[in-house]
Amino acid sequence: MQVVLDVDTGVDDALAILLALRSPAMDVRAITCVAGNADVDQVVANTLRVLDAASAPDIPVARGMTRPLVEPPRPARHVHGEDGMGDLGLPRSQRSPVGIHAVELLRTTLASATEPITLIPLAPLTNIAVLVRTYPELLDRIDRIVLMGGAAAVGNATAAAEFNVWHDPEAAAIVLDSGVPTTMYGLDVFYEPVVPVADVQALVSAADPARQLAGRLMQHQLARFGAATVTLGDAGAVAAVLRPDLLWTARHPVRVELAGTWTRGRTVVDQRPRAIDLDHDELGSGGLVDVALRVDGPALAALFLEVLRTR
Ligand code: RIB
Ligand code: CA
Repeated sequence: MQVVLDVDTGVDDALAILLALRSPAMDVRAITCVAGNADVDQVVANTLRVLDAASAPDIPVARGMTRPLVEPPRPARHVHGEDGMGDLGLPRSQRSPVGIHAVELLRTTLASATEPITLIPLAPLTNIAVLVRTYPELLDRIDRIVLMGGAAAVGNATAAAEFNVWHDPEAAAIVLDSGVPTTMYGLDVFYEPVVPVADVQALVSAADPARQLAGRLMQHQLARFGAATVTLGDAGAVAAVLRPDLLWTARHPVRVELAGTWTRGRTVVDQRPRAIDLDHDELGSGGLVDVALRVDGPALAALFLEVLRTR
């Protein structure tokens, strides 16, 4: 399947990129970068380093929006380190991003696609929102958006909101209401696919640079959070695209809170019975989204380790 990744690399974005690049079932057509975990230039530099570790072909990588539509950038150094990717001291890549804006790369990639594209945003949705508003005529080239973001029940950036949606709530509202078939891989499943310490150690000591990078990234998270297991994070969303049979979703109206003092950036997932039949005009906008509520975490984690084990 032909995929495009939108990233804010990002420790777990890096894991997701490695999985997508190493999966024989995925043809990564483009990677677009956006401000989120780190500033957009750092995100580009980190993404190119991941391509180096994977000995990837010349996949086009583009620099996108430098800040959210309304909010200022709010990087997550406390989670991803000062450089946004675990402060591993990786050498700068010799690769360069393409000379067009990420939204233009999305446009050209969709316009020239030989089959519908699966778009996998793993970051604040600023690039995708600008695409939706600028080139609505290209949205039918997208087979499905599978985004890491939001949650039906919990938050992480705040008590109410998940980081990618919290970082740019207006962008999330635009994308979730775009009408494109969308799967929301949110915090309700995000923490389920975990890798135990022993497997992390095996990756760290691997000769293959891609496996070693995956191990070092996860080792950073283990140290950061002092846990015995580390979540795949964004890589879980990519794994779920590879194995949709390991993800259970339910279709609900989803709205993004834009006004709440303590709840701005919350994805309000309307799970009331028959909410889907209500007249959304009277309820205001709210796209119908396939919300991930359960996942086979161990199977997704095993898939990640298996794909990375094979060159
Ligand atoms: O809330 C987790 C999400 O925010 C992940 O995509 C992580 O990389 C950050 O972007
Ligand atoms: Ca991310």
